[in-house]
Amino acid sequence: MLEVLPRQSEPMQKQKHYSEVFASIQSLLNADSDWLAAMATIISELHNAFETFDWTGFYRVIRDDHLQIGPYQGTHGCLDIPFSRGVCGAAARTKMTQLVDDVEKFPGHIACSSSTRSEIVIPVLGKKGEVLAVLDVDSNGLAAFDAIDQHWLESICQLYAMRYPQRPSV
Ligand code: SME
Repeated sequence: MLEVLPRQSEPMQKQKHYSEVFASIQSLLNADSDWLAAMATIISELHNAFETFDWTGFYRVIRDDHLQIGPYQGTHGCLDIPFSRGVCGAAARTKMTQLVDDVEKFPGHIACSSSTRSEIVIPVLGKKGEVLAVLDVDSNGLAAFDAIDQHWLESICQLYAMRYPQRPSV
């Protein structure tokens, strides 16, 4: 089992930790799993590997312009988010990662938990560039995420999308 990266860590330490987390996810996804098993596994690996990750989850695109909660860890999240709202909606609408140092400065931020201070949301894109889901990570600390998080979390979302390129549905 991977150790937990403490809140205060050096960039080199964080890079090394992410490379181990990525390798672990890669090997776990080699099993004969479906999209739900894969999402749940990614969330568990990420949430338990970083002390800064206070809420970690996927929102799935269940119909055009609409996100619904998927596998997550942390206190309960908002169930439904239209593309027009919040940081998750912005990531889905623009197909660009949203790195928010201070959620109070993000117009329209949806506060599922009053303790959240910063957030990163990565779109998961299919083969034609369509949005399949978003990966949302929240922290109770300000500016908890940086370019290292962005790089590795985007890589994990690409890994997921290569193996499960369809819109997740049940
Ligand atoms: N803060 C997000 C909503 C999801 S929760 O944080 C789990 C947003 O503004 O889209």
